[in-house]
Amino acid sequence: MCPPDFFGVSYVINPWMEGQQGHTQPEAAQAQWTALKNLIARKADISLIAPQAGLPDMVFTANAGLALDGKVLLSRFRCPQRRGEEIFWRAWFEKAGFEVIEPALEFEGAGDALVDEARDLIWLGHGFRSDARMAPALTKLFGRETAPLRLIDPRFYHLDTCLCPLPGGALLYYPAAFDKASQEAIAARVPPEQRIAVEEADATRFCCNAVALDDMLLLNDASPALEQKVQAQGLTLARAPLTQFMKAGGAAKCLTLRL
Ligand code: ARG
Repeated sequence: MCPPDFFGVSYVINPWMEGQQGHTQPEAAQAQWTALKNLIARKADISLIAPQAGLPDMVFTANAGLALDGKVLLSRFRCPQRRGEEIFWRAWFEKAGFEVIEPALEFEGAGDALVDEARDLIWLGHGFRSDARMAPALTKLFGRETAPLRLIDPRFYHLDTCLCPLPGGALLYYPAAFDKASQEAIAARVPPEQRIAVEEADATRFCCNAVALDDMLLLNDASPALEQKVQAQGLTLARAPLTQFMKAGGAAKCLTLRL
């Protein structure tokens, strides 16, 4: 995770950021981020990266790269506003002893590449940020089949804003964020009883931007109906309100990177 010392909205690169420039509250952001960190600390060890002035989106560590099996495929950001983060992510991973690999094309890390442990699969979101042609590189590097999914709703510009593989094999997702072929690709791999399609009201609360840790599913917020469906999968919801970070277009999952 990356402390939100320099977090704020100072440019617009997704629809959530429109009209939010200068509208975040530093103390509230610190408090929300710390509450999330404390919840995660119950289940996992946390490493931090030093935040950098002038890089307000660096809190969204999901976009550092995809870290798996001691290797990391670094991000190459689509938007110039975030490219300044790249050298800091690289330095952190090198120091931590990861094998560091540069992508050949645009790729926004674990924001768009989601590991589905139950299927031994990587889902790759494309259409807004990452390049679909990164799929073969992911397969080659991590030895897992990679399924590309095309995103079509600009509010759900990263895959982790609209899809979340749960431990045990269920999949939380917002179908309308995907084109028809991608909805079919999901249906072909995930049986109906394991597909949890969420309503728009839950999707816009960033319910799919969730962090699964053992039997705990951490997220900004979810309706009681969705909470029941999640509980039926043997998971317990933990709410961590992240309204400050939603002004920049991110929530729980974006603020973390699984190492
Ligand atoms: N403002 C950031 C951006 O648009 C938010 C990133 C959220 N990260 C994520 N993994 N969805 O790049």
